[in-house]
Amino acid sequence: MNYTGRYPASRPRRLRQADWVRRLVREHRLSADDLIWAMVVHEGSEPEVAVASMPGAPRYSVAAAAKAAKHAAKLGIPAIAVFPHIDPAKKDAAGTEALNQDGLVCRVVRAMKEAAPEVGIMVDVALDPFTDHGHDGLLKDGRILNDETVKVLTEQALIQVKAGADIVAPSDMMDGRVSAIRAALDEAGHQDALIMSYAAKYASGFYGPYRDAIGSGKLGTGSVENPGDKRTYQMDLANSDEALREVAMDIAEGADMVMVKPGIAYLDIVARVKDAFGLPTFAFQVSGEYAMIKAASANGWIDEERVMLETLTAFKRAGADGIITYFAPRAAEALA
Ligand code: PBG
Repeated sequence: MNYTGRYPASRPRRLRQADWVRRLVREHRLSADDLIWAMVVHEGSEPEVAVASMPGAPRYSVAAAAKAAKHAAKLGIPAIAVFPHIDPAKKDAAGTEALNQDGLVCRVVRAMKEAAPEVGIMVDVALDPFTDHGHDGLLKDGRILNDETVKVLTEQALIQVKAGADIVAPSDMMDGRVSAIRAALDEAGHQDALIMSYAAKYASGFYGPYRDAIGSGKLGTGSVENPGDKRTYQMDLANSDEALREVAMDIAEGADMVMVKPGIAYLDIVARVKDAFGLPTFAFQVSGEYAMIKAASANGWIDEERVMLETLTAFKRAGADGIITYFAPRAAEALA
């Protein structure tokens, strides 16, 4: 319980009167150590390809991503999360390209680990960048097949770790995928490979710009071959207790770290998860959140740097140990 005095003996403003005292009593601090840089990569040789809805967060070529990893090391950013934009010609209904050991993801992981071995590399485990329908799993008669998908995801995770990924992050929301991945990694001798599960991932309107960035925009036609959204696997945004059950299961299955996604509209979930389990807990400031801040500041309606740091600090205050964000390099520079 906080002791609170009474006015006029107590005057809370005394503690706010100057920068030195505000710094002295500050409860939470954001630093570069808290950041995971969300980065989209592409197969071409052009170093950067702009994404209209994500100004300042382009798709990087493999070579440019390796350079960016060095830059991250210099900025003190501990880890990078890579998301691939796959050539549409390589996509199919089964997401076969996800299992290509010389595919974009494996190549970029190798290049980044070679350029900056001290930076942790995290990769998504899910099929959506590789499927022509844009779903995270295998589809049959308009339904996502859970256990069949988990088998493919397990193979995908193993291939990613063999390429050098430090953290695999299942973002697909299939049931049972964490334990299947953990068992396969252990059996192959990768006991040290970390799992950060997208444990409480909500069906959200905030992922729009990401789907532009990785080119999975076809999702949403609503046909039987392509049901329009991800609500049969991602969580209902109106639920909170359900997030605790999801997190509890993922921890039991072997997750080392858990994530709540999206971020700023879900701080209550971050706080509950951190309070309940005390595990390293991360929040993903997703593409739509980034785009909103960029768009409003481009119009001169908000101060970009101030709102960027405000939102990132809010994640910390809610209990997050770190934040996955497209702002990572900008934020690290601002904090330096
Ligand atoms: C896909 C995945 C998504 C994101 C990360 N991994 C989108 C989705 O689930 O549709 C979103 C990232 C963002 O919006 O920044 N498994």
